[in-house]
Amino acid sequence: MKSIVVANWKMNPASFKEAKKLFEAAKKAAEKSPNVSLIVAPPAIFLRELAGGYRGKKLSFVVQNAHAEAKGAFTGEISIAQAHDAGASYVLVGHSERRAAGETNDDTRKKTSAAISARMTPILCIGEEKRAALGEHFSFVRDQLRAGFADVPPARVSRVIVAYEPVWAIGSETTMKPRDMHEMAIFIRKTIIDMYGEVGHAVRILYGAAVTDENAPAMMREGDVRGLLVGHVSTNAERFAALINSISKA
Ligand code: 13P
Repeated sequence: MKSIVVANWKMNPASFKEAKKLFEAAKKAAEKSPNVSLIVAPPAIFLRELAGGYRGKKLSFVVQNAHAEAKGAFTGEISIAQAHDAGASYVLVGHSERRAAGETNDDTRKKTSAAISARMTPILCIGEEKRAALGEHFSFVRDQLRAGFADVPPARVSRVIVAYEPVWAIGSETTMKPRDMHEMAIFIRKTIIDMYGEVGHAVRILYGAAVTDENAPAMMREGDVRGLLVGHVSTNAERFAALINSISKA
């Protein structure tokens, strides 16, 4: 089974020229790694040109955010259909940085189901802001999952990808412990199985927050995850190539 790596460039880089360079480097690294499937999340304004110029099958594109409504008076927003038309086949839903800017669990419910209806693959991002001694972060994550999946038809559940990103580790260089991720992966799966039954086993789970080439192999080995969602390291061509390489060797 291939490992999934999502490169979330966030609001980087500053120019299309730099984006193209970064993309070429990521593509090259991915092409050398047969057991890695790369999904690039460029800023939406670069999406069409990057996707349009790519002819291979090795990688795909994800839009960092899209609106749940199909069209209308939503200045500054992008629809899922427009993202699809520009070359994306995945939609990031509820990234913690969007949630910090006001996105709610209810928004993630609408976006996840809108992405499914549009035959796109939603990557539902969840994760607590801090760890609590009494384990309240588990109920926080459960609420995010229940809301995000609420309108997903049972036959489509296995299409949704869940990206667990502990907000307290994002942007740093140290992931949570792989065995803590393993525990969280079991909890995520159990929550979905409680909602939908056995089909919940098929949901793919990614880990994201502070992933580097140093910590990626251990997370893939011991974290019980199908892949990684990478932020700042994905905008550094050399470090990102080293990361892909570290997983393909692991
Ligand atoms: P970092 O890899 O910079 O911690 O970001 C994680 C993230 O938010 C990916 O979506």
